[in-house]
Amino acid sequence: MCGIIGYIGAKPAKQEILQSLQLLEYRGYDSAGLCCFENDKLKLIKKKGKVSTLITACENEFVTAHCGIGHTRWATHGDPSDKNAHPHLSENNNVAIVHNGIIENFESLKGNLQKNGTRFRSETDSEVIAQLLQKSKCESELKKVQELSTLLKGSYAIAILFKELSNQIFAIKKNSPLILGKANDGLYLSSDVNALIGKTSEYYIMQENDIIWIDNQDVYLFDSNLRAKDIEYQPLTLTTQDISRGTFEHYMHKEIMQVPQAIELTMTEFEPMQNPLTRIPAELIKSAEHFSIIGCGTAYNAGNTISYYARQRDIFVDCYYASEYRYEKFLSRKNEVCIFISQSGETADTIEALKKAKEHNIPTIVVTNVASSTLNKLADYILPTKAGPEIAVASTKAYSAQITALYAFIDYVYCIKNGINCRSCILKDKLKDICDKLKSYDLSIIDNIANQLKNIERVFFIGRGVDFATSQEASLKLKEISNIHSEALYAGELKHGTLALIDENTVVIVIATQKELLEKTINSVYEIKARGAKVIMLTQFEVSIDAVDILVSLPQTDQLLMAEVSIYPLQMLAYKTALYKGLDPDKPRNLAKSVTVE
Ligand code: F6R
Repeated sequence: MCGIIGYIGAKPAKQEILQSLQLLEYRGYDSAGLCCFENDKLKLIKKKGKVSTLITACENEFVTAHCGIGHTRWATHGDPSDKNAHPHLSENNNVAIVHNGIIENFESLKGNLQKNGTRFRSETDSEVIAQLLQKSKCESELKKVQELSTLLKGSYAIAILFKELSNQIFAIKKNSPLILGKANDGLYLSSDVNALIGKTSEYYIMQENDIIWIDNQDVYLFDSNLRAKDIEYQPLTLTTQDISRGTFEHYMHKEIMQVPQAIELTMTEFEPMQNPLTRIPAELIKSAEHFSIIGCGTAYNAGNTISYYARQRDIFVDCYYASEYRYEKFLSRKNEVCIFISQSGETADTIEALKKAKEHNIPTIVVTNVASSTLNKLADYILPTKAGPEIAVASTKAYSAQITALYAFIDYVYCIKNGINCRSCILKDKLKDICDKLKSYDLSIIDNIANQLKNIERVFFIGRGVDFATSQEASLKLKEISNIHSEALYAGELKHGTLALIDENTVVIVIATQKELLEKTINSVYEIKARGAKVIMLTQFEVSIDAVDILVSLPQTDQLLMAEVSIYPLQMLAYKTALYKGLDPDKPRNLAKSVTVE
């Protein structure tokens, strides 16, 4: 949510910052801006709209600049507009800042500044930072930056330019990510390591309350008391190939096509030599009486999907949305283990939920896709997913990788609890079979369905058992990128109310992958058809049901793992429907990836 970037070095700052902003754009795309030192002055251009609009506006500008900061915004306070776009300048134009996060006490800070005559130009919470820095009485710029941490409440990653200190950048962070990247001929600050790929060979993940001061090519790191710290860089191994769209028109398409690879690579992580599960003490698993899975959106849905698999193995798992778990009257159950799922590892609600669990001394395990993420730093144990960088806002391959890691986890728990030697190779072989089938799966029927969905007002996804969990994920995917109102329901629940909405303008997508539930699900199909809706059914069973308008045959595989299969065509359905509606599937309306605000 919001991407910030800073650059200082031998290359043209405009080029470096704009290129990186494009890579950070998935974090927000309602406005963007750039501020650089030029002829010892702070020059600013910011525009409502995507980074491409900013690029056009900057065409003949910033020609001599080698130091600057940039921002791509996802609006929280104040609508998307030129004036609310970052960077923000102080009233006297001597300080420029970019900010990712939320300043929770901005109203009182702003009120006090206004009482003393400061005039604000925007409606944002962030502008207050620039104004506070201007008004600060501290003797040095470094001290002014340090003082911020005593004044601001909330979350922030901030990069700052002071007009008086040409070609220097300051940065500070708390609860929002910020990375320092080092190249031979320059230094970068970025919200995300992805924006540094191909630019730097090493990076440092800023720790809570770190302060950074970059003075040309010298960089100094301090803690919140301005005590000097060593910078421990780590190598950046991702390549530009990992983040390029390749021959695909959209990242989302590329990422759906990478689902089999994400499953295979994730499963490889659980091979005996390196299996991260073996780092979780068997005693902890043996004594665990409750497992709670916590996440947001798709990550939550992955947890819910796996809870059905766990139940088949007599392991009972409760799932919570991270934003709710935090405010639960705390369960404080004995022998609880919490598993947090997050593609980015930076989702603010999930981080806060994990902190809450830690406060109660509950052992924490995270399933994340980003090794350098905050959640990885905070958790006791890590189960990595190997989906590779996921750039489209809608999560696809990461979901498939998350359930893969969790299948392995649940099998491990089952084996420990039952004193069996865990043989992950059985699961690996089954998943390999699924991947082979997905790779050769003909998705052409999906195109036709997407074409029909484009004019539909309402879509329901229904299923029983694990198929309901898949319905939730399929529904989320469709609504977020095609803007069609969609809902997921247990197949048996329709007749308890929602059937009232079923008519000829409705499409109901039925998922039926569980043999023992098939008959009952077919009953629901007839009830729906009798109300005039179009029915699309996904199943691996050979059925002939006259109430079904379109039957999508799924590859046959182990029934317990069918969730890995059934979501695949439905991810594609969401993608294709967005295309038929003329929408950009990579940048859905009002959304952004990596939700770093609560
Ligand atoms: C939906 C989607 C979101 C994320 C959610 C959690 O397609 O991508 O619902 O799943 O914001 O994000 P992470 O997994 O990064 O914690």
